[in-house]
Amino acid sequence: MATGLISFRDYMAHKVKEYYAEGFREDFFTAPELDRSFGYAVAQEIYHLVKDYPKPLLLELGAGSGVLAFDILTFYRKNHPDFFQRLTYFIYEFSPYLREVQKGKLRAFEGKVFWCEELFPIDGVVFSNEFFDCLPVHVVKEGKELYLSEGKEEIWAEFCDTRIGDFLERMGYMGLKQTLEVCLDCLDFLEVLSQNLKRGYHLVIDYGYVSRELKRFPKGTLLGYRSHRVADPLEDTNRMDISAYVNFSALEYYGEQMGLKKVYMKSLRDFLVSSPVFMEELERLSLSEDGEDIERFSRLKTMLVSMGDRFKVLLQERL
Ligand SMILES: C[S@@+](CC[C@H](N)C(=O)[O-])C[C@H]1O[C@@H](n2cnc3c(N)ncnc32)[C@H](O)[C@@H]1O
Repeated sequence: MATGLISFRDYMAHKVKEYYAEGFREDFFTAPELDRSFGYAVAQEIYHLVKDYPKPLLLELGAGSGVLAFDILTFYRKNHPDFFQRLTYFIYEFSPYLREVQKGKLRAFEGKVFWCEELFPIDGVVFSNEFFDCLPVHVVKEGKELYLSEGKEEIWAEFCDTRIGDFLERMGYMGLKQTLEVCLDCLDFLEVLSQNLKRGYHLVIDYGYVSRELKRFPKGTLLGYRSHRVADPLEDTNRMDISAYVNFSALEYYGEQMGLKKVYMKSLRDFLVSSPVFMEELERLSLSEDGEDIERFSRLKTMLVSMGDRFKVLLQERL
């Protein structure tokens, strides 16, 4: 490979790290930031999965402002105090800045929440919301991969990693004429996760697609965010968040190879409407005339309508 070229994967890895080193997506809201009902729905699901474990361990990947952890722990303390006593909550987070933000947000749960820099043997549930979309991707098209020159010129050249060809073959994408992303980092992470998950579940919530939906994205799924607006991921700016839709078919297929069996995959809307705590809250808010409740009701509708189909929920179980 010519000198002065950087693979898009390395460029994205650098941009994502730089972005989260200084903060968190103030550029848009995530579901847990929209409303606490999201966290309560996740909490209730996790409770049903591991309520009988003597010492359940919950590990959240990429915790942002810490709001999801806060809502989950608040839900248990109020509704399942015995489970709350038994569990330990870990956060895996690479941004030192965000670790401090999370510690501040979770002060009320001191002694219950811990931070880790790498995974370790787990009996419980590993889960995330909008974590896998941050992992860097190789951008490929018709047998070539995207590189950038120093002047950010797009150069298409041979794959930098032989595993990319293997991935395309296994996933049945070989003859495709469109641009698509290959997230080897997602697979590497899944591998480490599967090796460490001794007993329990992996719950992934993120925006993404399955293989049959790929044709909806002929130019790929990369997204750049800056100052509340969708931006060109290659735009020259200091702070730009770049993400890519998560390939849920790949998580499912490679997960099975690694001993993680799919329990279900569904849209976020289906996940939420099948959640008793979410539906109770939705119904209560729909009947209320209180100003704050009316606002919350509209946020829940946003979650169902604008995120409901774009986001998927995958649950895998350690075999
Ligand atoms: C989009 S935010 C989601 C935050 C939170 N889960 C939410 O839904 O509000 C992504 C989070 O993952 C973290 N993150 C991104 N890449 C990571 C990596 N490679 N290792 C650890 N944490 C990472 C970011 O610092 C941030 O906390």
